[in-house]
Amino acid sequence: MSHNTFGHLFRVTTFGESHGPAIGCVVDGCPPLIPLEEGDIQAFLEKRRPGTSRFTTQRQEADQVKILSGVFHDEKTKRQVTTGTPIALLIENTDQRAKDYDAIKDTYRPGHADFTYDLKYGIRDHRGGGRSSARETAMRVAAGAIARKIIAPVRIRGALVQMGPHSIDRANWDWDAVVKNPFFCPDAKAAAFFETYLDSIRKAGSSTGAVIEIVAENVPPGWGAPIYGKLDAELASAVMSINAVKGVEIGDGFAAAELSGEANADEIRRGNDGAPKFLSNHAGGILGGISTGQPIVARFAVKPTSSILTPRRTIDRFGAETEIVTKGRHDPCVGIRAVPVGEAMVACVLADQFLRHRAQAGESAKWPFAPHL
Ligand SMILES: Cc1cc2nc3c(=O)[nH]c(=O)nc-3n(C[C@H](O)[C@H](O)[C@H](O)COP(=O)(O)O)c2cc1C
Repeated sequence: MSHNTFGHLFRVTTFGESHGPAIGCVVDGCPPLIPLEEGDIQAFLEKRRPGTSRFTTQRQEADQVKILSGVFHDEKTKRQVTTGTPIALLIENTDQRAKDYDAIKDTYRPGHADFTYDLKYGIRDHRGGGRSSARETAMRVAAGAIARKIIAPVRIRGALVQMGPHSIDRANWDWDAVVKNPFFCPDAKAAAFFETYLDSIRKAGSSTGAVIEIVAENVPPGWGAPIYGKLDAELASAVMSINAVKGVEIGDGFAAAELSGEANADEIRRGNDGAPKFLSNHAGGILGGISTGQPIVARFAVKPTSSILTPRRTIDRFGAETEIVTKGRHDPCVGIRAVPVGEAMVACVLADQFLRHRAQAGESAKWPFAPHL
């Protein structure tokens, strides 16, 4: 299994399984002299941590991160900073219950990775889903915390905008509300409804999907690349690599297909400050694979959790048809904890694209250009 590395100049390799002793990652390519403490990473891990409400898995993991390498005390600033060498991060798994997964040892959960892992590798760590468990996404969040430091003052925020068939009312959008409910929902009224909705789903032994929106502000124009390194293509790939993600949109996404050329054109004027001013953002902050300077907007659809208490028809390893009920501790809506993971993947892509832009072009060109004499 060799596809465990992400990025070009900001490069992240993760390792570990749900029920192994630990999960971890190596972040390579981080520039030197960036202040970095475990607390900087921990703050983001707290948002993804399991067991924080009745709406997520009850697995109790402290998700305490250790920095094993790549930092040193800087005499000049009296702070711990990155050294430019690989940063290894480790989180111990402390709350495993392998017994809970006996039922899926030889039987495939419909909608999960059990069948495909077995068919591809002929061996599978079934405990908690092994490597296919979203436990791995904790390391994405940890790497994302480092990525954010590289690209500060870029601000990346995520929100849950739909649960099952129920969309939020965008007129109620309030970023402050996101931290005040267990769903990362920017519409307080919708969040109150989601409590009863998700309780009923959970009690019925079922699960539900969600749509998450990530917005990155203060991204300067010029990040990204044309053709095979398109910023939108890399964002889509990174976000799609998150467990259970089945769709990604940038800007208006699929809805853009319904617009006329006039409606879709993000017209440009010269703003009062002399800088270019876009009158709309259907493009989601990216044109030709390169950032425009507008907010970058990405949305992704997360499927409903496949491990459910309602019996589903399936097959076992040995050729028999059977039924499966998945016990154990599962998220009834994995989209909730996917919010910080989505933010992290966007941060990693932007940090990587920033370093690549700096390597090739240095500073972005300034508008307006001087006329030719
Ligand atoms: C944050 C997060 C938590 C998840 N928790 C669960 C879970 O408790 N139970 C489960 O069956 N799937 C869970 N998943 C989804 C599975 O990891 C995923 O469906 C599985 O690996 C198969 O991959 P695929 O859905 O991308 O095809 C979670 C996904 C995310 C992003």
